[in-house]
Amino acid sequence: MALSAEDTQTAGAVWEKIYADVEDNGAVVLSRMFKEHHHTVSYFKNFTQLQSVAETASAEEIAALAEVRAHGKKVFLALNDMVPHLNNVDALKETIAPLAKKHATELKIDVKDFEIIFDNLLALIGEKQGADAKTAFKKVTDLIYEEIKAAY
Ligand code: HEM
Repeated sequence: MALSAEDTQTAGAVWEKIYADVEDNGAVVLSRMFKEHHHTVSYFKNFTQLQSVAETASAEEIAALAEVRAHGKKVFLALNDMVPHLNNVDALKETIAPLAKKHATELKIDVKDFEIIFDNLLALIGEKQGADAKTAFKKVTDLIYEEIKAAY
């Protein structure tokens, strides 16, 4: 179900602050995924720096890798394209469907792994903006995850 106009506005303000620091925040979300859920590293076969250091490097060191920073930006840019459509499910579906299909068929990502990214993003929002912001944004990640699963 789409978010109300008020929830969309609140969540949009939370997102704007996180997106202002897109490169650092995107890299943090990904690096924590690679460290805490090691199987996710194996999807990123093209990331040669990551493949060579993933076993030994800290999350901070992984977050500093150029390929992780560049990919974090791509992920956040895709989320940034979804945020304006939170109160319009048809527009949201259109934005999400091609990306979900690519992850399902070409990249062969287990849809459950999306939860890791959303949990990490919510944890980061909690750290930077507090518990209320995290609660507000959970409505966003729940909705996006629902639409990703529907398109998978
Ligand atoms: C909020 C969730 C996610 C978003 C917004 C997102 C977004 C993206 C985008 C925009 C791309 C580039 C697509 C292109 O070049 O056409 C991409 C590629 C990719 N994604 Fe995701 N993604 C998400 C979750 C995940 C998860 C959970 C995984 C696996 C753990 C994953 C693995 C990959 C891989 C392996 C690629 C290809 C990387 C490469 O070789 O360049 N993604 N993703």
